[in-house]
Amino acid sequence: MKKEIVYINGKFFNPEEATISVFDRGFLYGDSIYEVTLTYDKKPSFLDEHLDRLEHSANSLMMSLQYTREELKNIINDCIKAVDSPRQYIRLIITRGQGAIGLDPNLADQQNLIILCKDLPEYPVSWYDDGVHLVVADVRRNPKKAIDPTIKSGNYLNNVMAMAQAQQKGAYDAIMLNFHGQVTEATTSNIWMIKNKVVKTPPIASGLLGGITRKALLEILAEQNYSFEEVNFTVAELKSADEIFLSSSTKELVPVTKVDDTAIGSGKPGEITKQLHQYYLEKVRNS
Ligand code: PDD
Repeated sequence: MKKEIVYINGKFFNPEEATISVFDRGFLYGDSIYEVTLTYDKKPSFLDEHLDRLEHSANSLMMSLQYTREELKNIINDCIKAVDSPRQYIRLIITRGQGAIGLDPNLADQQNLIILCKDLPEYPVSWYDDGVHLVVADVRRNPKKAIDPTIKSGNYLNNVMAMAQAQQKGAYDAIMLNFHGQVTEATTSNIWMIKNKVVKTPPIASGLLGGITRKALLEILAEQNYSFEEVNFTVAELKSADEIFLSSSTKELVPVTKVDDTAIGSGKPGEITKQLHQYYLEKVRNS
């Protein structure tokens, strides 16, 4: 069995043999949607929630999906079975397809379905034991009326530029603000701050992706009787937090111990972050 496979429109390929047309609109215009999840013991986490979001992305881009949910689930399961690993990174991409060059979406009528499936080694333990460093990006998150950040599309240039700024400064990732100067999210994760035991994350309306991990965490906070709010905050408020962490399907909860030049709280990962990570692992394994 293999450690990595690529599925394209009904066929399995080795990664180096997997190709797609240069006329594909995903390649030409970022005219595609995607989802990323992780498997735990070969089971994809929160698959229905990811497929709900895929449908939201498709509807928002006026793409009528050419596969049913059952078909997609069966294909994903076939991919997972073909890879020799309990912990797999799964990336499902649907592009509007290929056709003559031109922006008119009707120039393509057959979508391309691509699934990347690979063994995902554990991330560096230092991220979780010591926390990571974020910087505030100069580039702003796309406003909702431009490219709505609730759509998980293949058009990530906005976030790519923010990540480039983080890399230039030697940071792990960048925090992106909206045009009101409010914190939205990091380039591929949602952001959370904890102050005086109240857990806060910005509302989706401020212009961010409705993360599946974010949704699970909001449920956990309610179930475990934490004080929490979906509320906007500024960089100054963020820097005064007792704890900060990021959330995403692939990295779960990553503590943040420095923002720009400011150490957060004690400068070590916080206790509430650690507790929430444990609750999240229990929930994801039972999902
Ligand atoms: N990223 N915000 C953005 C912009 C993201 O791209 C992601 C996910 C998240 C977190 O969402 P979730 O909890 O559903 O993973 C927030 C994935 C992991 C990626 O692009 O690889």
